[in-house]
Amino acid sequence: MKLKKNMNKLLLITPILFLCCTFSFAQKKTSKIQNMSALVDQQFKFASAQYKVLSKNVPEGVMPVTYNAQKDKVETSDTKWWCSGFYPGTLLYIYEYTKDPAIMIEAKSRLAILKKEKHHTGNHDLGFMMFCSFGNAYRLTGDADHKATVDTAAQSLSTRYRPIIKSIQSWDSSKNFTCPVIIDNMMNLELLCWVSANGGDKKFYEIAINHANSTLKNHFRKDYSSYHVLDYDLNTGDLLRKVNWQGASDSSAWSRGQSWGLYGFTMMYRFTKDKQYLDQAQHIAKYLIKHPNMPSDMVPYWDFNAPGIPNTYRDASAAAIMASALLELGQYSDKTLQKQYVNTAEKMIRSLASPKYRARLGENGGFLLMHNTGALPQKSEVDVPLTYADYYFLEALLRYKKWYL
Ligand code: GLY
Repeated sequence: MKLKKNMNKLLLITPILFLCCTFSFAQKKTSKIQNMSALVDQQFKFASAQYKVLSKNVPEGVMPVTYNAQKDKVETSDTKWWCSGFYPGTLLYIYEYTKDPAIMIEAKSRLAILKKEKHHTGNHDLGFMMFCSFGNAYRLTGDADHKATVDTAAQSLSTRYRPIIKSIQSWDSSKNFTCPVIIDNMMNLELLCWVSANGGDKKFYEIAINHANSTLKNHFRKDYSSYHVLDYDLNTGDLLRKVNWQGASDSSAWSRGQSWGLYGFTMMYRFTKDKQYLDQAQHIAKYLIKHPNMPSDMVPYWDFNAPGIPNTYRDASAAAIMASALLELGQYSDKTLQKQYVNTAEKMIRSLASPKYRARLGENGGFLLMHNTGALPQKSEVDVPLTYADYYFLEALLRYKKWYL
């Protein structure tokens, strides 16, 4: 009799419990989405106001690099600098979200001074310079002149391809290197793939694939961390050495380099659907997410093996690039991995958007993010704002909104 009564009670309670759990789970999910939606909105409204401050700090004819707090001055560069596309690119991302015409006016005036670099062949950074800027400008406006600029830039970049090593030469030869190829170069393949996929010469796509395959073969260690620089002999095609230039030591994992690799192989999978690129990106993601030296706020130290961890500098740019890459990788992965990638990216975004990393209005020279590290061994750009950190931070926010809200 007692057993029957208990059974009845259980039968009554189970569906109620089930309904309560489902309701609270759905509520939690909705409030999480609302939270992220509000966060994205806040960050873009802030970015619009903050970049108007930055624009006043950048004289005509040059591009912002960073902010020197001691001198209270935004440092600038000419348009040949590898970062010259990020400022117009960031303005275009802000415009994409806010549709603020003043932001578009500023973007257009900077695109005008950058355009001549479509003929630049002095570095491998044409993708960063011309695709983050004119690629976005074309995507948002459909202006054929922007597409023509991007097409010419791909041709200029392709002049640095060296068939004997099946790679693009990153930097010119110097006292330090003969023919250096750096992991960052994976990012510039997007320009080549996009132009081939949009009516341009198919040779750019071939170059990008050859370069990615050489990188896959030579740049990575067994644990899927990567070297920064590989130096080749252009007469024999031999690989001379594998080193780190911006990293802590030749055996360390320079954080931004790991982010470039993750982003690069994810992007190459987008264009090729070649499973080996997806596998590589997922292996890199695992290495990074599970790394014992990844801080709990998911904003990496400047190098995963930096001496002095935890008492050393962070690199917020590495987190911004990684977050953006993980959000795209989530699009190509199964549900379990997608959840892991999106949760990690969300954590990075929330950290970057917090007062610990994101500046207040009018401060930081007008840049969004603080605590980036450009090249610590060279004592250059340490713990400062940097244009590409802002660019990939906003790209991650747009990607989150587009795919996960
Ligand atoms: N491409 C140079 C850097 O990431 O510092």
